[in-house]
Amino acid sequence: MSAAAKILDPCCGSRMFWFDKDDQRALFGDIRDEKHVLCDGRVLKVEPNVIMDFRSLPFEADTFRMVVFDPPHLTRAGVDSWMRAKYGMLTSDWREDLRQGFAECFRVLEPEGILIFKWNETQVLVSELLALTDQKPLFGHKSGKREKTHWFTFMKRAAK
Ligand SMILES: C[S@@+](CC[C@H](N)C(=O)[O-])C[C@H]1O[C@@H](n2cnc3c(N)ncnc32)[C@H](O)[C@@H]1O
Repeated sequence: MSAAAKILDPCCGSRMFWFDKDDQRALFGDIRDEKHVLCDGRVLKVEPNVIMDFRSLPFEADTFRMVVFDPPHLTRAGVDSWMRAKYGMLTSDWREDLRQGFAECFRVLEPEGILIFKWNETQVLVSELLALTDQKPLFGHKSGKREKTHWFTFMKRAAK
């Protein structure tokens, strides 16, 4: 990570979706720093550059050109499950957590900066998530065999 990283991934998990998991343009954050050995022997590492909470990001406003927001999407998963280890879990107060998460991601973005948001709606509909921010996505698409994973691109509104 360079000192002047321009991309923030505030809940990076094991960085599965990054082509370069050590991209120097990005700052990787997560609320946890831990390793899990999966049942097939593979090791899952969540090792952020900085421990952070997306509900209260430790950055000034207008700092990043891009934020990638991929928060936990599960309200239920087995205690020792691989899903829980990989994706983390929503709390019982997830609406408020994610409302704050959106607000914080937009706060630390430069005006007209880009927010990429990913959501899997197996347990919670994407429409419930989009209701937690007043910013509107520009476009998006669905992926995965069952088309449950949604990707959205937002551009932060310029200050008036
Ligand atoms: C869906 S996973 C991210 C997966 C990641 N995009 C990847 O490519 O591997 C969500 C992550 O959010 C983290 N998380 C949960 N609550 C958080 C919070 N309040 N602040 C920051 N990270 C949080 C979890 O620890 C988990 O690693």
